[in-house]
Amino acid sequence: MEEKLLNKEVQNYINANLHSDLHGLLLKKSPFPDVSMQEIVQQIKGKQTAQKKFSFLLKEGIVFPPQLNLEQASSEKTALYKSNILKGKTFIDLTSGFGIDAYYLSQKFEKITLVEQNSELLEIVSHNWGILEKKARFLNQKLEDFLAENRNTFDVIYLDPARRDQNKNKVFLLEDLSPNIIEIQDKLISISNEVVIKLSPLIDLKYLVSVLPNIFRIEIIAVKNDVKEVVVFLSGENSGQIICKCVNLESEESELEYQFGDEENAQSEYSDPEKFIYIPNNSILKAGIFNVISEKFGLKKLHPNTHIYTSNDKVKNFPGRAMEMEVVDGKQIKKKEQFNIISKNYPLKPEEIKKKYGLKDGGESYLIFTQSKKGKIILKSV
Ligand SMILES: C[S@@+](CC[C@H](N)C(=O)[O-])C[C@H]1O[C@@H](n2cnc3c(N)ncnc32)[C@H](O)[C@@H]1O
Repeated sequence: MEEKLLNKEVQNYINANLHSDLHGLLLKKSPFPDVSMQEIVQQIKGKQTAQKKFSFLLKEGIVFPPQLNLEQASSEKTALYKSNILKGKTFIDLTSGFGIDAYYLSQKFEKITLVEQNSELLEIVSHNWGILEKKARFLNQKLEDFLAENRNTFDVIYLDPARRDQNKNKVFLLEDLSPNIIEIQDKLISISNEVVIKLSPLIDLKYLVSVLPNIFRIEIIAVKNDVKEVVVFLSGENSGQIICKCVNLESEESELEYQFGDEENAQSEYSDPEKFIYIPNNSILKAGIFNVISEKFGLKKLHPNTHIYTSNDKVKNFPGRAMEMEVVDGKQIKKKEQFNIISKNYPLKPEEIKKKYGLKDGGESYLIFTQSKKGKIILKSV
């Protein structure tokens, strides 16, 4: 399969059609007797995805798998971040997939093993790693079978369970993932110092802690304020404390660490808007640490259900957006003015606000429609 696709003429045809209409292309007859148009389109989609998600694979000789495997693969941005927090001698990825995570996460390890049940996919990964001159042991089997036979231990075991059920719908409970982590967690921690599992950003943290008692660390990873992954770390030797970290990659914003459970013991003070207004980034909002933020930065919250904070003096290193703003009356807003509109804990959505006030989107200034304890308010950048 790889050889046919890597034929020079086939590659030239793929590269010449990188921007072609793929639906139209699929209706055409393949110019090559031994390569179908579907296979060609698969390679084009692979290169297009690589441009956005894993540009290190835009190299001569690399082969791409079907769309589902491309979608399931991590982006190099999050993989690179995770690679900085892992090191040791032996690394195993039990759900290799297209191997993006494995490629990065294993950088600081000597012996690397990849397990994947899908033989065609693993064959592609093994071929690509040859091109990239990266060595590993490739095992084509179900990880449950591997775990049953295995007698080795590993410094780090990594898993990125398939997050789709048989109907290809996205699922968010651990029981619905493949593999079922709840069933294999004891086995995993018995053969490794550190088990690292990537999960959906939609998964509930309290639920995770309740079903995985050996968690000692949780990382909530956003890229440009879009939460991409919740990563949990398990160990047989955990002390009972769980350190959580919120990160927003490709932003200037500081990372924030706290202990799981801190939120229950923290309290917020409340106030009407003062000179500075703060909106936490989405990794903080995902963590749900609304009172921790208030305490840690000495900020007051506008309302129990408004996760917007305020202060008279600007605080440093806030993990989110900080702006100088003033309260305005709706009547002061002029039609056709341009604003970035934010609606939080407010009955109208930004689109509806835009229509009601006849505003234009964009520009440098912000309008926040929200509620303080005294009722609805509008805040405008100063
Ligand atoms: C989400 S993908 C992994 C993507 C990968 N982290 C990457 O960056 O490319 C999950 C993979 O796990 C594999 N998988 C799921 N259950 C498995 C099992 N029980 N044994 C072996 N592989 C399994 C699937 O075939 C799929 O390729």
